[in-house]
Amino acid sequence: MTTATMLRTFCALVCIGLAASAHAKPAATPAAAPNVNETCLACHAAADAKGTAGKSIAVDGPKFTTSVHGEFNLKCTDCHTDVAADKIPHAETLKPVNCANCHDAAVKEYSTTVHGIARKGGNNVAATCTDCHGTHDILRSKSAESRTNHVNLEATCVRCHGDKITIAKGKLPGGDIGSEFHDSIHGKALRGAAKMSAPECTDCHGAHNMLPKSDPRSKVARANIPDTCGSCHQPEFKAYTNGMHGKMRQQGVLAAPGCTDCHSAHAIQQHEAAAFQTGAINECGTCHHESLSTYRDTFHGQVTALGYARTATCASCHGAHDVLPPTNPASKVSKQNRLATCQQCHAGASANFASFDPHASRHERERNPAYWYAAKFMEYLLIGVFAFFGIHTAFWLYRSLRVKFGGGDRKEP
Ligand code: HEC
Ligand code: HEC
Ligand code: HEC
Ligand code: HEC
Ligand code: HEC
Ligand code: HEC
Ligand code: HEC
Ligand code: HEC
Ligand code: HEC
Ligand code: HEC
Ligand code: HEC
Repeated sequence: MTTATMLRTFCALVCIGLAASAHAKPAATPAAAPNVNETCLACHAAADAKGTAGKSIAVDGPKFTTSVHGEFNLKCTDCHTDVAADKIPHAETLKPVNCANCHDAAVKEYSTTVHGIARKGGNNVAATCTDCHGTHDILRSKSAESRTNHVNLEATCVRCHGDKITIAKGKLPGGDIGSEFHDSIHGKALRGAAKMSAPECTDCHGAHNMLPKSDPRSKVARANIPDTCGSCHQPEFKAYTNGMHGKMRQQGVLAAPGCTDCHSAHAIQQHEAAAFQTGAINECGTCHHESLSTYRDTFHGQVTALGYARTATCASCHGAHDVLPPTNPASKVSKQNRLATCQQCHAGASANFASFDPHASRHERERNPAYWYAAKFMEYLLIGVFAFFGIHTAFWLYRSLRVKFGGGDRKEP
C-alpha cells in the first residue's frame, strides 16, 4: 500500500467516523458502524497490503470472522491492545499479542512444556501459541480445519520436526521424525479408515503438558512408555505386564525392554512385515547376545539372517509380549509346552524332535555334550591337518632350496 492510498483511506475513515457519530446510537449497542474491525480492515484487508519493510500486513477478514475469536465478536484491538481505532495512523511497530490476557491457564501450562522452556532459554525456533494454533484463523480443535484437529496435528508438528532447515537451526532432537512417522503404521492409519483411533503426535506426547523424554513425568519417559502405548493396545499391554520383561519393569528395572525397544517410537511397522520380523530378532539380540549367536548357528537363524521370516523367529518360540523364563511351566518353551510350540510349524514333530536345542552352543560342554565333543573333534582335526601339511611344506621348501642352490647330495645327471 502506498503512502498516498494510506492517506486517502485515512481521510475516508475520518469521514465515515464523523458520519457515524452524527447518527450516534445509544451506548447500549456499542457496535455502531463502522466498527473497529472494519476500520482496521480498510487498510489491512487487501491481499497485497505490505508494511515498510515489505512484510505482509494482510488480514483475511472473512476468515477472521469465522475463527473462534471472530465468532465471539472479538475486536482487533482486544488482541492488538496498543492500537486504537480512533488513533489512526498507528505506530509502525506494535507490541506482540499477549494471549495471556484471556488465556491465563493455557499460557501457564505452556511455560512448563518443552517448547515453553526452550523459548525462555533463548531457542526462538521452539513452537509458540501461534505456531500450533495460528493467528487470525484460530479454530476449536474439533473443527475439521483446525491446526490442532486430530487429523491435522501431524502436519502442524512436522512443519518443524520434518523440515531439515528448521531441525538444524533449532537443534530439534530426533532429526527428521516427520518422514519416519509418515511411513509408519500409525502415520498410514491416520490417512485411512482408522484415522480417528490412530495416534498423532500429541496422543503420545501431550500438548500443553508436553515434556522432554528425560523428564520422569513425561508420557514418553522410558518408564512410562508401556502405559502410553497400552492406553490403546490393551491386549498386548496385558500380555506384556504378565511377561518377564513387563514384570521386571514393574519392579523398576529399566534395562528390561519396553514397547519401543522392539517396535521403535516413530517408525512402527505392521507386525507381519518381514523387515519388522527379522529386525525384531536383532533387537532381542541387542540384550541377549549369546542367544542370538547360538540361534544364528541353527537352520532357523540362518534363514532369517537372509531376511526371510518364514522360519522360527525368537518370538515364534518365546512369544512376543508374554516372554517367560524356560523354567516357568507357563513358558512356551517350558518342558511342558515345547513340543506344542514346535508343532505350530512342524506338524509331525515328536518329543525327540523337540529335544533339539535351538540354542545349542559348541562352547558349553554341560549343555550340549555331543555338540561340544564334535566341535572339539573338528577343531583338533583342523589343527592336526594344518600342522601336518605345514611341516610337510616346510620340509619340501628346504629340499627345493638345497636342490636349487647346490648344497644337496643329489646331482642332476
Ligand atoms: C490507514 C491505514 C491503516 C489502518 C486504518 C490500520 N492500519 Fe495497521 N498498519 C498499517 C500499515 C501501513 C502498517 C505497516 C507499518 C510498517 O510496517 O511500517 C500496519 C501495521 C499493523 C500491524 C503490524 C505491526 C508490526 O509491528 O508489524 C498491526 C498488528 C496492525 N497494523 C494492526 C492494526 C489494527 C488492529 C488496526 C485497527 C485498529 C489497524 N492496524 C488499522 C496501516 C493501517
Ligand atoms: C486473537 C487475537 C488477535 C485478534 C483478535 C487479531 N489479531 Fe492480528 N495478530 C495476532 C497475532 C498473534 C499476530 C502475530 C504477531 C504477534 O504475535 O503479535 C497478529 C498479527 C497481525 C498483523 C501483522 C501481520 C501478520 O499477519 O503477522 C496485522 C496487520 C494484524 N494482526 C491485524 C489484525 C486485524 C486487522 C485484526 C482484526 C480484524 C486482528 N489483527 C485481530 C492476534 C490477533
Ligand atoms: C481478548 C481475549 C482473548 C485473547 C487476547 C485471545 N483469546 Fe483465544 N479465545 C478468546 C475467547 C473469548 C474464546 C472463545 C471462548 C472459549 O472457548 O474460551 C477463545 C478461544 C480460543 C481457542 C479455542 C478454545 C477451545 O476451547 O477450543 C483457542 C485455541 C484460542 N482462543 C487461542 C488463542 C491464542 C493462541 C491467543 C493468542 C494469540 C488468543 N487465543 C488470544 C479470547 C481471547
Ligand atoms: C505444540 C503445540 C501447541 C502450543 C505451542 C500451544 N498449544 Fe494450545 N493446544 C494445542 C493442542 C494440540 C490443543 C488441543 C488439546 C486437546 O484437545 O486436548 C490445544 C488446546 C488449546 C486451547 C483450548 C482449551 C484447552 O485448554 O483445551 C487453548 C485456549 C490453547 N490451546 C491456547 C494456547 C495458548 C494461549 C498457547 C501459548 C501460550 C498455546 N495454546 C500453545 C497445541 C499447542
Ligand atoms: C505412538 C507414540 C508416539 C507418537 C504418535 C509420536 N511420538 Fe514422538 N516419541 C515417542 C516416544 C516413546 C519417544 C521417546 C523415544 C525414545 O526414548 O527414544 C518419542 C520421542 C520424540 C522426540 C524426541 C526425540 C529424541 O531423540 O530425543 C521428539 C522430538 C518427538 N518424539 C516428536 C514427535 C512428533 C513431531 C510426532 C508426530 C509427527 C511424534 N513424536 C509422534 C512416542 C511417539
Ligand atoms: C515452530 C517449530 C516447532 C513446532 C511447530 C513444533 N516443535 Fe517441537 N520442538 C521445536 C524445537 C526447536 C524443539 C527443541 C527444544 C529444545 O531446545 O529443547 C522442540 C522439541 C520438541 C520435543 C522435545 C523432545 C525431547 O524429548 O527433548 C518434543 C517431544 C516435541 N518438540 C514435539 C512436538 C509436537 C508433538 C509438536 C506438534 C504438536 C511440535 N513439537 C511442534 C520446534 C517445534
Ligand atoms: C491413540 C491410540 C494409539 C496409541 C497411543 C498407540 N497406538 Fe499403536 N496403533 C493404533 C491403531 C489404531 C493401530 C492400527 C492401525 C491399523 O490397523 O491400520 C495401531 C497399530 C500398531 C501396531 C501394528 C499392529 C499390527 O497389526 O501389526 C503396532 C506394532 C503398534 N501400533 C505399536 C504401538 C506402540 C509401540 C505404541 C506406543 C509407542 C502405540 N502403538 C501407541 C493406536 C494406537
Ligand atoms: C521384546 C520385544 C517386544 C516388546 C517389549 C513389545 N513388543 Fe509388541 N511385538 C513384538 C513382536 C516380535 C511382535 C510380532 C509378534 C508376532 O509376529 O506374532 C509384536 C506384535 C505387536 C502388535 C501386533 C499384535 C497383533 O497380533 O496384531 C502390537 C499391537 C504390539 N506388538 C504392541 C506392543 C505394545 C503396546 C508393547 C508395550 C506394552 C509391546 N508391543 C512390547 C515385540 C515386542
Ligand atoms: C525354535 C525355537 C526357539 C527359537 C527360534 C529361539 N529360542 Fe530361545 N529358547 C528356546 C528353548 C527351547 C529354550 C530353552 C532351552 C533349555 O533350557 O533347554 C530357549 C531359551 C532361551 C533363553 C534362556 C537362556 C537359555 O539360553 O536357556 C533366552 C534368553 C532365549 N532363549 C532367547 C532367545 C532369543 C533372543 C532368540 C532369537 C535370537 C531365541 N531365543 C530364539 C527356543 C527357541
Ligand atoms: C532391552 C533389553 C532386552 C530386549 C530387547 C529383550 N530382552 Fe529378554 N530379557 C532382558 C532382561 C534384562 C532379562 C532378565 C535377565 C535375563 O535373564 O537375561 C530378560 C529375560 C528374558 C528371558 C528369560 C531368560 C531366562 O534366563 O529366564 C527370555 C526367554 C527373553 N528375555 C527373551 C527375549 C526375546 C525373545 C526378546 C525379543 C522378542 C527379548 N528377550 C528382548 C532384556 C531384554
Ligand atoms: C514359526 C514356525 C516354526 C517353529 C515354531 C519352529 N520351527 Fe523349526 N523350522 C521351521 C521351518 C519353516 C523350517 C525349514 C525346514 C522345513 O520346512 O521343515 C524349520 C527347520 C527346522 C530344523 C532343521 C530342518 C529339519 O526339519 O530338520 C530343525 C532341527 C527345527 N526346525 C527344529 C525346531 C524345533 C525343535 C522347534 C521347537 C522348539 C521348532 N523348530 C519350531 C519353522 C518353525
